[in-house]
Amino acid sequence: MSDAEKPQTGSGPKKLHIKTYGCQMNVYDSERMAEAMGAEGYVLSDTPEGADMVLLNTCHIREKASEKLYSDLGRLKPLKLANPALKIGVAGCVAQAEGAEIQRRMPIVDIVVGSQAYHRLPAMARAADAGQRSLDTEFPAEDKFEHLPARPLQGRPAAFLTVQEGCDKFCAFCVVPYTRGAEVSRPVARILAEARALVARGAREITLLGQNVNAYHGVEDGADWGLARLVRALAKVEGLERIRYTTSHPNDMEADLIAAHGDEPKLMPYLHLPVQSGSDRILKAMNRKHTADDYLRLIEQIRAARPDILISGDFIVGFPGETDADFAATMALIEAVGYGMAYSFKYSPRPGTPAAGRTLVESGVADARLQALQALITRQQRAAQDAMVGRELGVLIERPGRVAGQWVGKSDYLHAVHLTDASLAPGMLVRARITEGWTNSLAGMRLI
Ligand code: 5AD
Ligand code: SF4
Repeated sequence: MSDAEKPQTGSGPKKLHIKTYGCQMNVYDSERMAEAMGAEGYVLSDTPEGADMVLLNTCHIREKASEKLYSDLGRLKPLKLANPALKIGVAGCVAQAEGAEIQRRMPIVDIVVGSQAYHRLPAMARAADAGQRSLDTEFPAEDKFEHLPARPLQGRPAAFLTVQEGCDKFCAFCVVPYTRGAEVSRPVARILAEARALVARGAREITLLGQNVNAYHGVEDGADWGLARLVRALAKVEGLERIRYTTSHPNDMEADLIAAHGDEPKLMPYLHLPVQSGSDRILKAMNRKHTADDYLRLIEQIRAARPDILISGDFIVGFPGETDADFAATMALIEAVGYGMAYSFKYSPRPGTPAAGRTLVESGVADARLQALQALITRQQRAAQDAMVGRELGVLIERPGRVAGQWVGKSDYLHAVHLTDASLAPGMLVRARITEGWTNSLAGMRLI
């Protein structure tokens, strides 16, 4: 293609539309891909219509991921027919798992980029401009983030920072060890540098991301650093006021990390600690390598260090072999813990995972269990939220609310808080008295 035929010619910056499915790690990856393409002259666009490139950043964790992808690709087809120069890329875990199949079934897909190859996206986009399709689902040894450009100038008050990727746990239901690969931790110095850059660009809160974040083991000057040491070093970064991390595995919740929850004020009192089931039989079948009692004792230790900590979790109902008694054990564990928040899912077999071939629990039974579990969680969530009323909390202002003069921020406990005060602005960390609890958020009054 000659220069004159290239789509960017004449009409201002090229437009990139990214659709992100799934977890916070994908949100972070989409931001990094946007930055990489920004260096190539692309600006983000909210819609696929009129875009020069559309990127679907996919998730494979539960069922219908590929069906959703194919139906989204079907919707993009008319756009591609109307504008053959439009580049279509598929990224993320479905790309990782089924890349070649996607390209075979969907000729409109120019680029398939697996979750560890994002630094190659600009080169793949240039190849697509030259009419070449490309696929990269390798797991290279290098840190992909080091080959991506620096973080953008306009930052957000609450930022994500990936410190670890992959998982060595091999829970019997989960695709992550296959789609994201083995556990890899980024070096300490690079994380600290990225954190400082984020703070310089306006971040006051950083959430450290990893599929198994508390298994973090980075290297600094030849020494092995766990997550607690990393958190303590980040706490010394001036201007950074809040630190969170997600997602953790109970077996990696080491004593120094628990201690940090007690004595590091910048570490926020919120911990996402999935248990999946309360039945030891099912935990064993899931290959979780811990019992319900191990988990309950761990929660006790964490609460001893930080009594007000809000615990959140993930649950799977209807795992193969789950009986009424197993489900009752899960409900009992939830009662015993008292969650501030939890995500729950009906088991869905994932191809290639150990549990994939096992006999399913009858669908209606699993649905009923999920409903009962969600009702219990909703009650607990509501109780935790109501308990905030009357308390004085920190609120980090993130964005304007729907009503004029209203702002929305996040409390220390990650609840959305609405404050009405015209003098607020994104990035301000204020104290507020909580005055009211709504279904999904709180209302408060600014104190200072
Ligand atoms: N079926 C249902 N839920 C799943 N999860 C992971 N794999 C599956 C599956 N095959 C849930 C787990 C995990 C969360 C991210 O997604 O609860 O913690
Ligand atoms: Fe998947 Fe989490 Fe289990 Fe790893 S620890 S296999 S990411 S559920």
